[in-house]
Amino acid sequence: MKIGFIGAGRVGCALGKYLKEKGAGFSLTGYYSKSIASARGAAQFTDSHCYETPEALLADSEAVFVTTPDGAVASVWKELCRCKIPMRDKLLVHCSGVLTSSICADAESMGVTQVSLHPLYAISDRWESCKVIGKALFTIEGSGPRLEEFHELLSANGLMLQRLKADKKITYHAAATTASNLMIGLGELAISLLEDCGFQRPYAMAALRPLMQGNLDAMMEKGTTEALTGPAERADVETVERHLQALTGEEREIYRLLTKKIVALAEKKHPERDYGPLERLL
Ligand SMILES: NC(=O)c1ccc[n+]([C@@H]2O[C@H](COP(=O)([O-])OP(=O)(O)OC[C@H]3O[C@@H](n4cnc5c(N)ncnc54)[C@H](OP(=O)(O)O)[C@@H]3O)[C@@H](O)[C@H]2O)c1
Repeated sequence: MKIGFIGAGRVGCALGKYLKEKGAGFSLTGYYSKSIASARGAAQFTDSHCYETPEALLADSEAVFVTTPDGAVASVWKELCRCKIPMRDKLLVHCSGVLTSSICADAESMGVTQVSLHPLYAISDRWESCKVIGKALFTIEGSGPRLEEFHELLSANGLMLQRLKADKKITYHAAATTASNLMIGLGELAISLLEDCGFQRPYAMAALRPLMQGNLDAMMEKGTTEALTGPAERADVETVERHLQALTGEEREIYRLLTKKIVALAEKKHPERDYGPLERLL
């Protein structure tokens, strides 16, 4: 399957290079991008062609990956559907975590396969991320005659894939954001509380590092319920109450709501313990 990329940024370069090097059933035509310099750089990096128009790239490619920022995907995609090149049996793919694959209403009648393929990974570097993108799990959602073939080709190239329903896309993206960005928010909350206790920020971070990393490792190895420790797990109402008294505003609310979430886990872990008083406090 001949594939080309519109949008020569981090994901476009990393995925193009990865698939080119794996080479099982895909051949890379090249890149078109908003700036010719980006397209040229990506083409050199992947030893492929630099296109001056999206139509020229579409003419040479069976599958076009639109790896522009999310806000540009729909307009680029619709422009491709409108151009004079026969679209039957083409695939249009994007990598947005939020958008579904249903971008162009006429795609089905045109015989186009529309796919959203999202790497659950932070891809931070145009030139280096091709070395790590194969570790990511990709979610795939779409419709059209060549969806199965595309899925099998990606698997044959070593990508881990998880099918997703279009109506779950936003919930899925909220989950990814919770695990990725909100974890930073939680880290920031803990650091600022330590700063209140007189820690310099670098010391606060150094102090939290083994605690947070150990917890993450335990959670991934044993699961959330088994990894759970602390006052809520011990049904220690007095300590939780004192924490709540020491906190104010949003910090108190975040603590309270997350503690409610883990009490539900603690109840599963220790069905013999009485968590009623803690639940009433929360
Ligand atoms: N980075 C991540 O961690 C990550 C993870 C999962 C999914 N994604 C998704 O992957 C997609 C691409 O993200 P990214 O991080 O690779 O973005 P990026 O690094 O900003 O690259 C986007 C590229 O698209 C080009 N571009 C912008 N508008 C365009 C247009 N109208 N026509 C053609 N090219 C255009 C840009 O311009 P120039 O030509 O000026 O360079 C740039 O090269 C997004 O849908 C994003 O949500 C990203």
